[in-house]
Amino acid sequence: MEYTVMLPAAGSGRRMGAGENKLFLPLGGEPILIRTLRVFEEDPACRGIILAVRPDERERIRKMLVEAGIQKAAAMPDGGEERQDSVRACVRAFIEGGGDGGSVVMVHDAARPFISRRVIGELAVSAGRHGAAIAAVRAKDTVKQVHGGIVESTPDRESLWLVQTPQAFRASLLSRAEEQAAADGFLGTDESMLVERLGHPVRIVESTYDNVKMTTKEDLAIGEVLLKRLEE
Ligand code: C5P
Repeated sequence: MEYTVMLPAAGSGRRMGAGENKLFLPLGGEPILIRTLRVFEEDPACRGIILAVRPDERERIRKMLVEAGIQKAAAMPDGGEERQDSVRACVRAFIEGGGDGGSVVMVHDAARPFISRRVIGELAVSAGRHGAAIAAVRAKDTVKQVHGGIVESTPDRESLWLVQTPQAFRASLLSRAEEQAAADGFLGTDESMLVERLGHPVRIVESTYDNVKMTTKEDLAIGEVLLKRLEE
């Protein structure tokens, strides 16, 4: 199933403490951003890449893409204050660029370079059939609901999933969800939440624990270990 991928890449990387966008940091000698982009560049089912960037980083990123031979980047809209703003900019660029509302689009954090082709493929098929599908793994730890430092409740672990990206949707559904959230001033922590608000069912595709988001220095260290394992 063919799809277009939208990559929010306009974060500041504050939690990484790198002093610049964490996506420029090297992982196995190559910027995190390029590693993530290459997964989609090399996937024949990926029709195009829409990348939300910070305006002051656009030229640097453009050069990086040329050097790395990334050719599928169809649009590079300005990202926004929040990740959700950056994703909305991608969705608008897709629609303004004549994107088909009935086709599948996928939102993926540029900071998750270890996403597998198997998960991408299953997400595209599920979203094509059902409208919305997200990558997730089963919770391994027990999760507590806590208020003021006191445990309030313990949700049944069997029903708990930890959500990642990609999150895949029929384009018209994601566009409607994004615009409704913006109109309501609703800020979610993932795209699925915005679609859930519309009452549309969202399916789970079981992902892998190595699809980690490069957020802190510890994640980078884990990333280096994962890379070595993949190269063995
Ligand atoms: O900060 P966090 O790791 O949650 O960001 C996830 C992804 O969203 C990163 O790829 C980051 O570049 C992107 N982002 C964005 N615009 C923002 C904040 C984050 O595109 N305002």
